[in-house]
Amino acid sequence: MKAVVVYESLWGNTAAIARAIAEGIGPGVRALTTSEASGAAVADADLIVAGAPVFGFSLASDKMLQGIAANPGNPPAPPDVSHPSLRSWLDALPHGSGRSAAFETRLSWSPGGATPAIVRALERAGFSPVAKPARFIVKGKFGPLRDGELERARQWGAELAKAME
Ligand SMILES: Cc1cc2nc3c(=O)[nH]c(=O)nc-3n(C[C@H](O)[C@H](O)[C@H](O)COP(=O)(O)O)c2cc1C
Repeated sequence: MKAVVVYESLWGNTAAIARAIAEGIGPGVRALTTSEASGAAVADADLIVAGAPVFGFSLASDKMLQGIAANPGNPPAPPDVSHPSLRSWLDALPHGSGRSAAFETRLSWSPGGATPAIVRALERAGFSPVAKPARFIVKGKFGPLRDGELERARQWGAELAKAME
């Protein structure tokens, strides 16, 4: 089974969750930025796991990420906006026939979410869901992750691998 985990991450929380999910799925599975996840890297994937932070109650566009980067508030570190948004990566995803799973990082109390848009785009590209979307919680606007979330992500990755058997 070829699985790839693709993520958007400005402050590293989603990147850390993506790496833990990849680890949970199994050896040789990589977590890739939207720049690294080229057409060739995902073309013949049996499983695409895609995740992003919730920004503004939703999945951000490129324009919104640039807006956040220009006016981020008071972050502990500068945001990494060197990669396309997951939304634009999904828009350009070539049609495939594998399965998919979506995840997001977010505050516990927020309405909305990023995964509905991720699921819709993956389905449109031919990748039907193998599991319900997962939510991983941060403690503040810029993180860090709540205790235990990395372990939960590894566990979710292992469940995805099992569901693909
Ligand atoms: C400008 C801004 C807007 C945000 N909007 C939301 C939101 O609407 N809902 C939510 O749950 N979290 C929101 N968050 C929190 C982020 O989703 C959270 O910190 C996420 O883990 C960041 O992921 P990253 O470190 O991978 O960039 C927001 C954070 C920032 C900086």
